[in-house]
Amino acid sequence: MRVFSGVQPTGNIHIGNYLGALRQFVELQAEHACIYCIVDLHAITVPKDATRLRENILDVAALYMAVGVDPKKSIIFVQSDVPGHAELAWILMCNTYTGELSRMTQFKEKSRGNESAPAGLFTYPVLMAADILLYDADIVPVGSDQRQHIEICRDIAIRVNNRHGKVFVVPDGRFLKEGARIMSLDNPTAKMSKSAENPLSRISLLDDAAKIRKSIMKSTTDSDGIIRFDPENKPGVSNLLNICSAFSGLPIPDIEKKYEGVGYGAFKKELAELTVDALTPIRARYDEIRRSEALREALADGAERANEIAVRTMARVRDFFGLGAKR
Ligand code: AMP
Ligand code: TRP
Repeated sequence: MRVFSGVQPTGNIHIGNYLGALRQFVELQAEHACIYCIVDLHAITVPKDATRLRENILDVAALYMAVGVDPKKSIIFVQSDVPGHAELAWILMCNTYTGELSRMTQFKEKSRGNESAPAGLFTYPVLMAADILLYDADIVPVGSDQRQHIEICRDIAIRVNNRHGKVFVVPDGRFLKEGARIMSLDNPTAKMSKSAENPLSRISLLDDAAKIRKSIMKSTTDSDGIIRFDPENKPGVSNLLNICSAFSGLPIPDIEKKYEGVGYGAFKKELAELTVDALTPIRARYDEIRRSEALREALADGAERANEIAVRTMARVRDFFGLGAKR
């Protein structure tokens, strides 16, 4: 089975991203041929500073490698390094209805009817479909917020296949387990997010020990002093239990038992140390990889391997559509 997923080159990757997505990307590479693409063309649907974007691309690639995505096993590459993505997106756009794009909730939320919303924001899902179909991917692991985008990708693939023959593999979404949904530390009823204003609301994978301790010690709990998993009534404590379980591997009931009669302060202190211990080796590997030539080599090699697949797909697509003079 071939697995494909795309990740935006944004900063502030946090433990929610790690536990909810990255860790599963690492697990998938044990069983499947995985392709992980850093989607810089998607990133520019919102204006970006050029220097910053290039840095973010390298940061994200290094972070993937630091958590265990192995560039020898999996392909890690940057979307714009393979020209087939933009080319296939155009062909797919000619097979996508404006009506179906205007029903995309992400577009509606981001554009809010604004006349100066970029057209790229509107056609974003078509570029995403091109990413997936270019590699004949069978499985696409994504967060459940991407459900609609996977659906339109399947619809486009099926439509083209009905018109032209067996052009594309129709992919399946694999929606990441929401079990470890990590909530914001200062407002545990909202998801931990990259963009929240208060940096203490999240633990970024690259935070130092002092920042990790501060975020956990200051996290919002409640006043009844009992360490019990009850997301409805005790969202703050439940979130800390979730984090504790994810990093220790212990089931939540075992943790509740272990901390029976213990105060929040002592529990938080131990959780902070557990989190520091889990993230310190990731940060050390990241620092090394980010500075190394190996990072650029991995991305160059990834782009080459991805491009080989893409070129074959594009030759097939051009043939099915009757494009070009060469055969
Ligand atoms: P995003 O920050 O939206 O780019 O998230 C990338 C992926 O990380 C998502 O598709 C989710 O699977 C996962 N993710 C993001 N935030 C969280 C969170 N707070 N808890 C668990 N998983 C998350
Ligand atoms: N839209 C996805 C997100 O915001 C990123 C993405 C782009 C993607 N292309 C993809 C995900 C292809 C999976 C497959 O998370």
